[in-house]
Amino acid sequence: FSEFLTDSFRRRHSYLRISLTEKCNLRCQYCMPEEGVRLTPRSQLLSTAEIMTLARLFVKEGVNKVRLTGGEPLIRPDVLDIITELRKLEGLKTIAVTTNGMNLARFLPKLKEAGLDLINISLDSLIPDKFEFIARRKGFVKVMEGIDKAIEMGYSPVKINCVVIRGLNEDELIDFVALTEKKPLEVRFIEYMPFDGNMWNFKKMVSYREMLDRIRQQWPNVERLQSQLTDTAKIFKVPGFQGQVGFITSMSDHFCSSCNRLRITADGNLKVCLFGNSEVSLRDVLRSGASDEDLLHIIGAAVGRKKKQHAGMFSISQMKNRPMILIGTHSSSQ
Ligand code: GTP
Ligand code: 5AD
Ligand code: SF4
Repeated sequence: FSEFLTDSFRRRHSYLRISLTEKCNLRCQYCMPEEGVRLTPRSQLLSTAEIMTLARLFVKEGVNKVRLTGGEPLIRPDVLDIITELRKLEGLKTIAVTTNGMNLARFLPKLKEAGLDLINISLDSLIPDKFEFIARRKGFVKVMEGIDKAIEMGYSPVKINCVVIRGLNEDELIDFVALTEKKPLEVRFIEYMPFDGNMWNFKKMVSYREMLDRIRQQWPNVERLQSQLTDTAKIFKVPGFQGQVGFITSMSDHFCSSCNRLRITADGNLKVCLFGNSEVSLRDVLRSGASDEDLLHIIGAAVGRKKKQHAGMFSISQMKNRPMILIGTHSSSQ
């Protein structure tokens, strides 16, 4: 495995998240400030050719999974071309997307044809009015159609990302788990994380322990399943239910020691940690006419500086980072 993608704690970074756009057709409160974000001028965003140059290089060095994120990745006009091109890269086993699901039902046949392997869909409420309040846009019905269609087309597991916020959607935990009875979904409850402009505070965060306690009151026999070492989620299942339930515990029990992820933002910065604000512009290096070797040295140096773990919830909440929409949620350079 490439020395350039191995950090000083011997973590091998075989999973690359590429943000395709800063734009989104929703405005989720936890992801972006009400007033929106200042968009990077188009000329400073990575072109498709630049994305492919970087993807090819990372795959050659050992990346075997790429996840396309955004903003909302499915609104990039050439997303299908990108997937088609990625599919040709030998060594790239898995192409995944994290989407808000708004355009999914319509796009799925083409996504499948282009070679998309895995889909994660954000859904924070099962109550249409609340969905609209959180996302500041309508869309509940379309997202549910997208979810059903993904199942119907054989995607497995279809993962649902639900960011849990106290006073907002914490009352829906049981309903979300109940959704896994008849549908083969992996519903993942995500601890609310602080990013610039998202109004995070400790009191609004519902911890993994608290969520699990509540679910156990309803289903005492919910059982823990083994997950992969590099998974973000701790996985559980209610016996007899078709689907599973996961918890992404970035705040109360981080999983930094097994992190295998790197990110490229839509404006071409390499971000070695979701909660780190040291970024390096691969776009500028590419545009200076650098060779693969030059790029690799710059990537290797950034990976080499990756910290052992994030700085802790309170430090993170005070540091300058990007809003999530500019990192690649579905993060901003200084
Ligand atoms: P899988 O490939 O299915 O494991 O997806 P994922 O969980 O890595 O990605 P997804 O885009 O679905 O994100 C789900 C949640 O995990 C989001 O809240 C992400 O911010 C969080 N997440 C993804 N990658 C990282 C990471 O490197 N560190 C931390 N702390 N959280 C992450
Ligand atoms: N805290 C936790 N998860 C978040 N996401 C976006 N913003 C936050 C936040 N502040 C999630 C979205 C999306 C995933 C990639 O990141 O739900 O599904
Ligand atoms: Fe919501 Fe995702 Fe759009 Fe952010 S990128 S506003 S989380 S749908």
